[in-house]
Amino acid sequence: MSDPHLESLRSFLKDTVRQQVDFRATEQGRGLPAPPLQKPFPSSATRIPLSAPESCRSLGQLDLFSAIANRESCREFADIPLGLDELAFLLWATQGVREVINPATALRTVPSAGARHPFETYLAVRAVKGLKPGLYRYLPFAGELVELNRGNHQTRRAADACLGQSWMAESAVVFAWTAIPRRTEWRYGAASHKVIAIDAGHVCQNLYLACESIGCGTCGVGAYDQQAVDRLLGVDGREEFAVYLAPVGKKLS
Ligand SMILES: Cc1cc2nc3c(=O)[nH]c(=O)nc-3n(C[C@H](O)[C@H](O)[C@H](O)COP(=O)(O)O)c2cc1C
Repeated sequence: MSDPHLESLRSFLKDTVRQQVDFRATEQGRGLPAPPLQKPFPSSATRIPLSAPESCRSLGQLDLFSAIANRESCREFADIPLGLDELAFLLWATQGVREVINPATALRTVPSAGARHPFETYLAVRAVKGLKPGLYRYLPFAGELVELNRGNHQTRRAADACLGQSWMAESAVVFAWTAIPRRTEWRYGAASHKVIAIDAGHVCQNLYLACESIGCGTCGVGAYDQQAVDRLLGVDGREEFAVYLAPVGKKLS
């Protein structure tokens, strides 16, 4: 290989990085407390309860084989709103909590290296029954949404922030995942960033399959203007920043 820049970027994918970490020097190794499992929110914020996961069981009638076989990226959506129970199902499928082990560790519906789960889920809502258009964040431990701001044109703003991928504006809701890298760095230090990227793939794959099972479509979006999406979500771009997005809507019949 002749390009040293590419070579150094490739090394990010190798486990050599982890092998060089002195785990006694990480925050966990030094006995420091783990960061919160979920980003705090203002106590005065409006919260919207979501259906319990078990009540979403009947929504997805497609067998797993068909969901996997039919999965494809969807960039055209029917102009039909999503049900709030359908949104609750998709949120549970992507980041729902299965079990809280202790204050530093919880297990979710997706795997995560060291069970660190470094993501927060934001929703730019255009058309979900029972939700005013606006920006929301999922609270997986309570099974709720927290309202961040109200206003129309959220999916349009997301599309603009994703380098003008205008098809995104026609979705019912855009999922946007941020990473809070410190949750993983607390345990893995410099070996965190490869596994954070792998973790994100698991989350979006569950979204693809869960969408398929309820007649929705989605498409992972990794091309976006970093500052514009961070601004849209109201995150600082250092301790928390956008890593991946996925518009969701009902499929055209
Ligand atoms: C990490 C990642 C980033 C992607 N980013 C975009 C994107 O920004 N815009 C887009 O239209 N599709 C995006 N895609 C979708 C791919 O183009 C799509 O998965 C690929 O063409 C294969 O098609 P399929 O998903 O239907 O099998 C992305 C997919 C992944 C996994």
